[in-house]
Amino acid sequence: MDNTPSASLPGGTWALGDLTVTRVGYGAMQLAGPGVMGPPADRDGALAVLREAVALGITHIDTAGAYGPRVTNRLIRAALHPYPASLHIVTKVGAVRDPEGGWIPARRPEDLRRAVQENLDDLGLDSLDVVNLRLGDAQGFQSGSLAEPFEALAELRRQGLVRHLGVSNATPEQVAEAQTIAPVVCVQNMYNLAHRQDDELIDDLAAEGIAYVPFFPLGGFTPLQSTALSAVAARLDATPMSVALAWLLRRSPNILLIPGTSSAAHLRENVAGAGLALSDEDLAELDKIGR
Ligand SMILES: NC(=O)c1ccc[n+]([C@@H]2O[C@H](COP(=O)([O-])OP(=O)(O)OC[C@H]3O[C@@H](n4cnc5c(N)ncnc54)[C@H](OP(=O)(O)O)[C@@H]3O)[C@@H](O)[C@H]2O)c1
Repeated sequence: MDNTPSASLPGGTWALGDLTVTRVGYGAMQLAGPGVMGPPADRDGALAVLREAVALGITHIDTAGAYGPRVTNRLIRAALHPYPASLHIVTKVGAVRDPEGGWIPARRPEDLRRAVQENLDDLGLDSLDVVNLRLGDAQGFQSGSLAEPFEALAELRRQGLVRHLGVSNATPEQVAEAQTIAPVVCVQNMYNLAHRQDDELIDDLAAEGIAYVPFFPLGGFTPLQSTALSAVAARLDATPMSVALAWLLRRSPNILLIPGTSSAAHLRENVAGAGLALSDEDLAELDKIGR
């Protein structure tokens, strides 16, 4: 019998390739300084949030070398290394930061090799569990072939520096192209109650056993606001954040949650909130929000 705390987290677990993760994970982007640049104002608080995530039984942490840059990964290492065997850290490559905090695409093979090495160094690992190729630009999706960068990552995977690959900010066509190059275990795109553009992709990926990991599950820098969401939350005596997370867990079994927070109290609220029971009536009401 599995007595680990993760077995009791809302939604249970999911397999990213041969790695089992809790469907309730944690997104570490909010731990860096303002604008995801520089160190956190409260370093001890940031380390405490990461330790709390593991203490709660979370086994999936989402990060990127571009957070800080190189700040969040070093915080993860400082808080949690040596890592519990059950913990899996998913990182992203494909963008660097300019001095103003802009996100600059960096997807040449040499950029990706450097980014993977920096992630290994900063996280203190010999091999990265999952690396997402971050596509698109500041405006979002960018159509076009991902063959050159994804082949470069597939080569790093063959070399054993990366265990599994995923894509982020990807169109369905890019996901399909990536799958012709190497196995894809997850897709990380923007999706939440109010942004439902990937509904069809989610269902297609579920049929293939591939995880869909929505970023901005709570609306990101602009919290989700909707009359229907507030009404359901009030009826259930819950917060809109809890309803939004519980809805995502119910939306499809391949959805993994990575809500971000710099607060241990919010982290606890989010883990508990994801387990909120939603009735068919609640779901029908919520379903209308983003359609
Ligand atoms: N692939 C990509 O291009 C991409 C882009 C963006 C993000 N991501 C990933 O997705 C993860 C999630 O995205 P995100 O953090 O930007 O957005 P999010 O999870 O939608 O929302 C985070 C915001 O909600 C607040 N919040 C969280 N829990 C709360 C609670 N219980 N009560 C009140 N406020 C709460 C946080 O503030 P507090 O800190 O005050 O709690 C923060 O401002 C990131 O950590 C990152 O790993 C990926």
